[in-house]
Amino acid sequence: MTTRVAILISGSGSNMVTLVNAMQSGDIDATPVVVISNNESAAGLDKAKALGVDAVALDHRPYKGDRAAFEADLNKILVHYNVDLICLAGFMRILTPKFPNQWKRKILNIHPSLLPKYKGLHTHQRAIDAGDENGGCSVHLVTGELDGGPVLGQVSVPIKENDSADDLSARVLVEEHKLYPAVLAEFINNT
Ligand code: GAR
Repeated sequence: MTTRVAILISGSGSNMVTLVNAMQSGDIDATPVVVISNNESAAGLDKAKALGVDAVALDHRPYKGDRAAFEADLNKILVHYNVDLICLAGFMRILTPKFPNQWKRKILNIHPSLLPKYKGLHTHQRAIDAGDENGGCSVHLVTGELDGGPVLGQVSVPIKENDSADDLSARVLVEEHKLYPAVLAEFINNT
């Protein structure tokens, strides 16, 4: 039976599009069943619909910081869609440890740094400020520790002299679009 995948986004959804394309073309043995955004105006929601994937907005703001209540409703959507695996792809909400515990080894995330370096935000600027030779991106399993789960795949991207964070981010994003589908395909084949 095919693996049913939910993709969680907050914004542009370019990684989501590469994952959906890879599943729909058969490069990944899985089916994208729903795209969920915590941001109602995320451009990725329309992109998902255009690809024929159900797109659901679950605005976090009415929950007024009650992450557990937000996650309970998120869970209802995931259960409704009979989801086997969750891919976070630019999903910018911090999850409580309970959520990954409910979905142990079932949540992947892409993070724009060479983990364990630069967990959290502003990863590219922090790599530049530190004088690092390389930035990059990592796909990892999500655990209760923010950006702290086991790394499944990583790509380095050289930092050029005078790179701005935006310059580096754009070059890393190109690599993200190759890394995430490759890691997801391997993960599904091996589990
Ligand atoms: C990507 O660069 C992703 O690595 C990053 O957000 C961007 C989303 O772009 N994720 C994080 O920073 C998670 N902590 P996209 O919406 O175009 O895929």
